[in-house]
Amino acid sequence: MAQAFSTLIPNDKIRSRITELAAEISADYSSSTEEHPVLLLCTLRGAAFFAADLVRALTIPCELDFIKVHSYFDDVNPAGIPVFELGREISVAGRDVLIIEDIVDTGQTMDLVKRHYTEHGANSVKIASLLNKPSRRLPGLKNMVDPDYSGFEIPDLFVVGWGLDFNEKYRLLPDVMVYDPKAE
Ligand code: PRP
Repeated sequence: MAQAFSTLIPNDKIRSRITELAAEISADYSSSTEEHPVLLLCTLRGAAFFAADLVRALTIPCELDFIKVHSYFDDVNPAGIPVFELGREISVAGRDVLIIEDIVDTGQTMDLVKRHYTEHGANSVKIASLLNKPSRRLPGLKNMVDPDYSGFEIPDLFVVGWGLDFNEKYRLLPDVMVYDPKAE
């Protein structure tokens, strides 16, 4: 019988990659000050795990807040319609905003978030994502929402762990794992 889970990215590789990303981000935002800190916006719920490790490894002044976007899928909108559930009103005028995401998949979530904060006067809006699945990007979003800081580029596999879930299960797995529900 096929295995339901197989490790794609082990915990130690994730941790060391986050350390590298934190160094890169800290260098790029070295002009950040206590008066003008970077505004880190963590997308709930999946990115909470990545964000917790990333922000504690940063060496620059920053503030952390949380946003939530939910996508509604139906027969009319098979690709989903994302809407803000939390964080729409966060004041970003003149701020350097770094969105912390667990995965960029079709790109719709980051498209909405990036456009929203740009339109509301952010000085800059960048994306840090633990995982990136460019092969899943909607045609209209190709190259539009690629993470500025990407932990790992992965193929079109269904993954869980490190914050990623299947029907709210498996978020707490310590590795990023490929999951096949049919094999269980
Ligand atoms: C997942 C994931 C991203 C988004 C990516 O969120 O955490 O935010 O989907 O998909 P996209 O690129 O196709 O828009 P989800 O709605 O499952 O919420 P969760 O983080 O609470 O699991």
